[in-house]
Amino acid sequence: MSEFITDKKRTHYCGKINISDTGKEVILMGWAHRRRDHGGVIFIDLRDREGIVQVVFNPHISPDAHREAHRIRNEFVLAVVGTVQRRPEGMENPAMESGEIEVMAHELEIMNEAKTPPFVLDDASADISENIRLKYRYLDLRRPEMQKNLLLRSKVAAAARQFFENNGFVEVETPFLTKSTPEGARDYLVPSRLSRGTFYALPQSPQLFKQLLMVSGFDRYYQIVRCFRDEDLRADRQPEFTQIDMEMSFVSENDIIQLTEGLLSYLFKTCLHRELEIPFTRLSHGDAINRYGKDNPDIRFGLELRDLTDILKTTDFKLFQEVIARGGIVKAIKIEDNKQLSRKDLDDLKDYVAEYGAKGLAWARLRTGPDEWTSPIFKFLKPLEVQHINERTAAKEGDLIVFVADSEGIVHNALGNLRLHLANKLNLIDREQFAFTWVTEFPLFAYSETEKRYVSMHHPFTSPVAEDIPLIATDPGKVRARAYDIVLNGTEIGGGSIRIHQPDIQAMIFDALGLAEEDVRLKFGFLLDALEYGAPPHGGIAFGFDRLVMMMAGVESIRDVIAFPKTQKMACLLTEAPSEVSIEQLLELSLKIVT
Ligand code: AMO
Ligand code: AMP
Repeated sequence: MSEFITDKKRTHYCGKINISDTGKEVILMGWAHRRRDHGGVIFIDLRDREGIVQVVFNPHISPDAHREAHRIRNEFVLAVVGTVQRRPEGMENPAMESGEIEVMAHELEIMNEAKTPPFVLDDASADISENIRLKYRYLDLRRPEMQKNLLLRSKVAAAARQFFENNGFVEVETPFLTKSTPEGARDYLVPSRLSRGTFYALPQSPQLFKQLLMVSGFDRYYQIVRCFRDEDLRADRQPEFTQIDMEMSFVSENDIIQLTEGLLSYLFKTCLHRELEIPFTRLSHGDAINRYGKDNPDIRFGLELRDLTDILKTTDFKLFQEVIARGGIVKAIKIEDNKQLSRKDLDDLKDYVAEYGAKGLAWARLRTGPDEWTSPIFKFLKPLEVQHINERTAAKEGDLIVFVADSEGIVHNALGNLRLHLANKLNLIDREQFAFTWVTEFPLFAYSETEKRYVSMHHPFTSPVAEDIPLIATDPGKVRARAYDIVLNGTEIGGGSIRIHQPDIQAMIFDALGLAEEDVRLKFGFLLDALEYGAPPHGGIAFGFDRLVMMMAGVESIRDVIAFPKTQKMACLLTEAPSEVSIEQLLELSLKIVT
């Protein structure tokens, strides 16, 4: 190590120096972000974790430092001793936090050199290929925006821990090398060396362990924990992601809901200085689907779906008539677009809904008289039907109504997505807003057409609503779950439930799911056993921590708040995982690759 470093300690972060430091001598260490040579004087933007400060090398102040500064290239690592001074009038840079001052250098040490980076490290490099960013992630993470995201992530984690500690929760770690857990995705498996032909599964969540901890009497558990799910990736999904996981004993839905609202308010207040309005809106699952077409509704804007099926029950319009006769529905969205959308736009919208299975998109534009439409379907409808549709959608002159007729599933899927598409296209979303909603009263089961059986909407440990228990055997589709999701701006950021704590009810649920008894014993025998030793009533919730931070940071991709994420193909471009292993390693694990 050079003398300079051993002799001197850094006094300030670059980004933390401001006008109040004027006149002070400072010692800074960081990276050369940008270098400008203005004839006699050299300017270096020196960068560290906290930001950037301008350093000036003037040959009249320090000829040695100025001479050495000629060698500086982007991303060289520097140590600088200098004096903070106010910038000359007119030279201030309001875009920089330290824009009113600069540091006049009198000593410089180049601590390390750097190759020319493969991309420029300012925020414009967000435009460069993500693959390059991920391959050189250690450089990408130097970018101020990425630093800001990860600093926020750390702050949110710390605040969450603080909140749980203040509220009497105990952090307990649970195993990663474990048994398959039931969150419904594919497991990542780890072969056992000692027990040939057997495998651990990486946990999809700590669900079963946190329930066992309630049986053990810990009463209030939390953990910030990695989960592993081998599922198709999207902008808000990673194969390994982090949950803020919690569980409580002797509680009902409202206790968990209140605690969550307290936690989220605390996180937004401490980390973003934002006050959240609590309690959050609550929507039943049925209402969410009916009004928004989705169980993760974005409630920052209107464009709600309206059901017209009853109005059109006796229509002469063949297309609607046939759909309704087959048990389908007709729904509409009214758009106050001030005639922004052209015929061509309407054709594009039709193509858009086609991706979600809709066979067409009928439309109507209201003109002069309240009952007059410009519409390809106007001539097929009775005046009274038109009038009722106008009333139901509260449409007025100039408004556009779009219709989809199909099975319930397709109508909700098509219009639910069209709603989001239109809000973006017409700029109806307030990007500053954080709109939370609970979605409650989920059905306990959903029928899977592919598996030809009922499957759990959440997981099989979710408690049914007590009065619906008799329906488990007779009409499983009607059983309501004591489950709740929390949705922020249209993204599901968390979900949980009150659990089953009675072994007989747990057995009934496994039965309704068509799971054979031996299978259940094999997979979850330990949980069923535990429930027989005095399990308290309990429930909990888990938040997608990466998703939450993504929303708090205001970024579009979950990868921008994870230091070392995987690509869409689940690869790590930096380390090149996954990769092949040696024959010896395979043999040791008694594994053979079959291609
Ligand atoms: P669930 O499966 O709903 O519940 O997961 C909880 C939250 O985790 C986030 N999440 C993900 N985030 C990133 N990438 C993924 N692949 C991913 N999958 C899920 C979501 C989701 O809301 N054990 C239950 C919780 C409970 O019942 O207490 C569970 O894991 O934001
Ligand atoms: P057609 O008589 O087939 O030309 O259809 C009349 C209008 O109804 C067109 O604007 C179609 O886009 C629309 N349409 C067709 N199928 C559907 C459907 N399933 N739901 C809503 N509109 C539809």
